[in-house]
Order: sequence, then structure tokens, then C-alpha cells
Amino acid sequence: MFRISTNHISEGMVVGRNITDVNGRVLLTAGQVLNSRYIQRLRAFNIKYIYIQDDLDIIEPVPVVRPTTISKATASFKRCYDQCLKTGKVNVQTVQSQVDNIIKDLMSNNDIMFGMAEVKEYDNYTYEHSVNVCILSLVLGISQDYSKLRLQALGIGSMLHDIGKIKIPLEIINKPSALTYEEFIEVKKHPLTGYNIATESNDLPRGAAQAILQHHEHIDGRGYPRGIDYTDIHEYGLIVAVADVFDALITDRPYRRAFSNYEAIQMIQQKTGTHLSKRFVDALLRHVNLYPPGTVMVLSNEDMALVTQENPADKNRPQLKLMFDANGKAYEMDNVMDLAEHKDISITKVLGTEEAESNLAKFLQIHKSG
Ligand SMILES: [Fe+2]
Repeated sequence: MFRISTNHISEGMVVGRNITDVNGRVLLTAGQVLNSRYIQRLRAFNIKYIYIQDDLDIIEPVPVVRPTTISKATASFKRCYDQCLKTGKVNVQTVQSQVDNIIKDLMSNNDIMFGMAEVKEYDNYTYEHSVNVCILSLVLGISQDYSKLRLQALGIGSMLHDIGKIKIPLEIINKPSALTYEEFIEVKKHPLTGYNIATESNDLPRGAAQAILQHHEHIDGRGYPRGIDYTDIHEYGLIVAVADVFDALITDRPYRRAFSNYEAIQMIQQKTGTHLSKRFVDALLRHVNLYPPGTVMVLSNEDMALVTQENPADKNRPQLKLMFDANGKAYEMDNVMDLAEHKDISITKVLGTEEAESNLAKFLQIHKSG
């Protein structure tokens, strides 16, 4: 299966996975052939990406959290957010039940490894982002052997980290260009607003409010709202900061496309020691696959190749399908290589999202017409 931007889909492509809207309602089921009506419908629902069936033989890793758990949590959080808009309070019990479901899914994995980002399909950034930050934060908490109670507190705090954004005008939140000074001042209020909302709600576990208040603090003291440094930032605040930055990077924004895991980790490392804590960045690195299936890379022999499958024993040397040689000539569809068996060949470049997708589309086109 192949994840493709709905800008690039065309009639005749076969849907690879059920496509759902933000409420979990199925718009199109796997196996359906796209026609112009379906394509229009997907665009009307603002679906950004879909999975299509292809002959690339990409084998996706099993997601660390089940898609149904994620879509239920997203829909539930959306309701929680809307309710908070009306009442100024959050229903912590409801958030906790979604957090518990996520913890249960995460705990059922022997080895938690993030491959391709799973949830980027709706234009509901705040809700999806909140759920993703919750998942990533919990993974970091699990990596520190947190107890169930601490995981719940961290999970609730991370899910609610941006709840203070309910007070920011939507035109600022969704602004596709850089913020003005005044707008940024407005945005910078959300940790404290969120903290106040959370602490006025019933049943908030200890530490959760700190995760909300401190997720934009930097370890060198240059963050906001208080400009406190490493010694004063709660561990949950340090964790949510890492999860927040990573998820923002691997998600499409109105002004740019998502970065790949590889690009995002490089950018995160540049922020380590000033903005982000090394301890939790290192923890994140242990759980993110730099070359998940679907990645397009250039090798030291100048071949361009697609990652089709993880090598569980060596996540840095995956299974590949060769696409183009050094002269740009396309390989046959079935030209595969196990990088773990070719230690003399190294990875010299990982293509960015846009470049990867256009090369894959070109490769597929060549084999369709040939
Ligand atoms: Fe935030």
C-alpha cells in the first residue's frame, strides 16, 4: 500500500484502507475503485491523504496503537474540546478513559516502534495533534518505566496540553503565514489558560497541570510562559515538549508539508540541549524508525530505492525495492535488495516527502505504461 496526497490521486486507483471522517464514519471502504465522484467527495471532506493499493509490496509495520483506538480518542477529544468551549471545564474522566485505551494498546506491543505516521488524514489539527502528543508522551513515559498512575497523569496532561487554545481566535490558530508580534503574544497565553482550565476541572491527577503549563518551556530557560529552566521544569513538561515538537514536524501544516521521520529527528537533535531535554530526545530516538516502509532513499552506489519492509533485527538496514539506477533508468518492479545483506552499501540521502512522492508516482507510471 502507498500513501498518497489526494492532490495526486486519479480515477482507477484502488483504495487501500477504509477512509473515515473525523467522527469515524466510513467515507470509502478498502477495495473501492476511485471515480470522479469519489474523488470529489474526498476533497469535499478535506481528506488530505489516502492509502492506495499498488504493486510496490510495501509491508507496513503493525501500528503501535490501533487505528480504531485513535479515531475514537480523536472524536472523544473533539467533543471534550467543544464542551470546554461552552463550560470552561474539561471532563477528566472522559479523557482518562481514552488515555487508558491508548495505554492498553501500547502495552500490548513487545517493541514500540513508530513507522509511518498513522493519523494525518483530517483537517482537525488540534484534536489529532492532541491525541498524537498523548501517544508519543506515553511511549516516552513507558520508556522510563512509569507506573500506571504516572502514565495516566502524563497521558491526561499531554492530551490536554493545548486545551488553552480554545481562547485563541481561530483565524490566528489556522493562519497559514507567520504570526505578528501581537498574535504571538496571544498564542503564548495558551499554556497558562490551559493550566487554569485544567486545575478548575474535577479529578485532575497530580502533575497533569504541569505538563500543560510547561510544554513550551525550554531547558535553557528561553521558553514561555515563565522562562524556567531544566531544574524547574516538571518531567512531564519535558516529555510533552519533545512529543509536541516531534508531532508538529511530522504533520502537515497549513504552510508546509510534513517532514519525514528522518528529517524530523535531525531537526529535533538541533534543538537538544537548548530547547529539548537530551534524556527524552534519546528516548524518542529509540522508538522512531528513521527509515519506515515508504521511505525513498539514495544509496552509496547512487541507486534510488524504496523501503518496502522493516528488518526487525536491524532497523537501520531495511528491505528495499530498487527504483532508478545512477543514470535515472528505472529498474524492473521486482528488483529487491536486503540492505542488511549488503553492508558495503550505505544510505547517502533520504528524500523529503514531496520528492519521494513524485519519484514513486514516476516509477509507478513507468510500470503502468510499460
Ligand atoms: Fe502548545
